[in-house]
Amino acid sequence: MSIQTEKIAEKVTVDRIRARKGKTPISMVTAYDALFAKLFDGYVEMILVGDSLNMSFAGRSDTLSATMDQMLYHTRAVCRGAKYAMVVFDMPFGSYITEEIAVENATRVYRETDAQAVKIEGGAERASIVEALTRNSVAVVGHVGLMPQFVRSEGGYKVHGKERSEIEKLVEDAKAIEAAGAFALVVEGVKPEAARAITEAVSIPTIGIGAGVDTDGQVLVWSDMFGFFEAFKPRFVKRYLNGAELIREALAEYVDEVRNRKFPDSEHTY
Ligand code: KIV
Repeated sequence: MSIQTEKIAEKVTVDRIRARKGKTPISMVTAYDALFAKLFDGYVEMILVGDSLNMSFAGRSDTLSATMDQMLYHTRAVCRGAKYAMVVFDMPFGSYITEEIAVENATRVYRETDAQAVKIEGGAERASIVEALTRNSVAVVGHVGLMPQFVRSEGGYKVHGKERSEIEKLVEDAKAIEAAGAFALVVEGVKPEAARAITEAVSIPTIGIGAGVDTDGQVLVWSDMFGFFEAFKPRFVKRYLNGAELIREALAEYVDEVRNRKFPDSEHTY
């Protein structure tokens, strides 16, 4: 069955994202190149050039070794493919450890790519960084809950918001990031009660990943949702396609045809 969905035909701006609070949920996916950004463009409101590319495409075991240069390269490519979707640059680990370093690196993002916003991980302790960025005219998406850049310091990927006290802390973090000027907030790996409490507490849209259905939007890593990344599958990932399986089948067909001199046939020969 083919699902007809209304296409987006105008560039998505920060104001349009803000205006979606409490309305039709926002769809966001990751992309790392122009080819896939172009495929996703017109369907999703936001494309995140996530540092998850370090795992799914660069084969590393976590996101921490992603660099500014690597992220800038992929973001430039994504921007070439994204005519309508808002492109968000995921600031890599270590690129926003002080206000000065954050502003310097975010300035590179605006100078060297057409991304409209940057995303940084962290709660109240990072509010001054968000504030410094927004004071310098950089649009910021926050990220609270399970933060992949904390995987080594926290000793693994852990679901957050199981206890009342943890939910209260997450709400305080979200409010601090909003007060510092972020226009949207990714909420990752939290119990649905926590995501609901955060979504009710802030007036900016929340975009969930592994956070239940009650956020103002959802984000998934494209290679997870289309079944290309097979190393592991978190519970929250729904596979909309068996991508890896389809590729293997098609590739086996190609190899078989090459070995049996069936390809190229006359249709594919000058
Ligand atoms: O890097 C990434 O893809 C992300 C998403 C998981 C939100 O930060």
